[in-house]
Amino acid sequence: MVGTKIDGVLVASAVKDRVRNAVAELKSRGIEPCLATILIGDNPASATYVKNKHKACAEVGILTKDHKLPSTISQKEMNVLLDSLNLDNSVHGILIQLPLPEQLGEFETTSRISPIKDVDGLTPYNVGLLSLGKAILKACTPSGIIELLDHYSIDLEGKNVVIINRSNLLGKPLYHLLLQRNATVVTCHSKTKNLQKICQDSDIIITGVGDRTRFTLTPEMIQDGSVVIDVATTRHDGKLVGDCDFDKIIQKASFASPVPGGVGPMTIAMLLKNTVTAASLSENIVRR
Ligand SMILES: NC(=O)c1ccc[n+]([C@@H]2O[C@H](COP(=O)([O-])OP(=O)(O)OC[C@H]3O[C@@H](n4cnc5c(N)ncnc54)[C@H](OP(=O)(O)O)[C@@H]3O)[C@@H](O)[C@H]2O)c1
Repeated sequence: MVGTKIDGVLVASAVKDRVRNAVAELKSRGIEPCLATILIGDNPASATYVKNKHKACAEVGILTKDHKLPSTISQKEMNVLLDSLNLDNSVHGILIQLPLPEQLGEFETTSRISPIKDVDGLTPYNVGLLSLGKAILKACTPSGIIELLDHYSIDLEGKNVVIINRSNLLGKPLYHLLLQRNATVVTCHSKTKNLQKICQDSDIIITGVGDRTRFTLTPEMIQDGSVVIDVATTRHDGKLVGDCDFDKIIQKASFASPVPGGVGPMTIAMLLKNTVTAASLSENIVRR
C-alpha cells in the first residue's frame, strides 16, 4: 500500500486563515496583536527562525517587536528586559529564541515570562495547566501535531501511540495532549530498550530524535497501516531530513508526514494562533 502524505503546508495555511480572521476581529475592537521576539547572539539558524516568524506574523497582520541582544547579556539584564515586556500592554506574546548562551539559565529565563504572554507554553504555570488538561497556551509543535492528526481525521481514542522524544519542548507536552485524547501513550528515549518492538506494536509513531547516526525509523520497524509523524529536522548528506526516509515509510504507512513540509510549518502556525489567543487573554476576551 502507499499511504497519504500529511501536508503540513496545507494545514498550516488553513490555521493561518483562521488566525488572519481572528486578528481582523481583534483589530476591529481596537486591539493590535503583537509578538515580541528575543534573539540572543549571532547563531545564523536562530536568526533565520526569528526572521521566518516575523514574516509569518506579517502575513496574518500580527505586529512584531524585535529585540536583538549580544551573546554576552547577563541574566540580570535579561530579567530586566523580560520584566519590562511583561508590563508592556502593547505586547501580547513573548518569544525567546532557544538555545540560550550558557550564562543564561533556560529555566530561569523562560519561567520569568508572564504566563499569559507565554506563546511557547514553556512556563511552569502553563506546563502545569497542560498536565491538568486546562492549558490555553500550549507548546506549539505538540499542538501543531494534534492539529495535523485532526485535519486528516486520524482518531486517537484507544490508539497505541509511541513518542520517541522526551524533551520539554516536544515529548512531554505531546504526551499530555495525546492522553487527553484517550490515546495509550508510551514515551521513549535514548535509554529505551526494545524500541523496535514498541514501534511495531504502535498504531501511531511520532519520532523526534534528530540524529540519523543515533536513530533511523525504518519500514521494518512499523506495522502495515500505521501513522508516522516525523518531527525531526536535521542535515544528513547535505539534505534537510527527519528520522525516516519518507519515500520508503509511505509505502507501508497509512499516513506519514514528510520533512520538510510536515510538522515544521505547523509550529509557526500554532505560534501565530497562540499570539492571537494571548491578545484575547490580555483583553479578557478569553478567560483564564
Ligand atoms: N519541526 C519542528 O517544528 C520542530 C520543533 C521541535 C523540534 N524539532 C526537531 O526535533 C528534534 C528533537 O528536538 P528536541 O529539541 O526535542 O531535541 P532533544 O532535546 O535533543 O531530544 C531528542 C530526543 O531524542 C532521544 N534520543 C536520542 N537518541 C535516541 C535513540 N537512539 N533512540 C531513541 N531516542 C533517542 C533523546 O533521548 P534522551 O532524552 O535520553 O537524550 C531525546 O529525548 C530535532 O531534530 C529538532 O530540530 C522540530
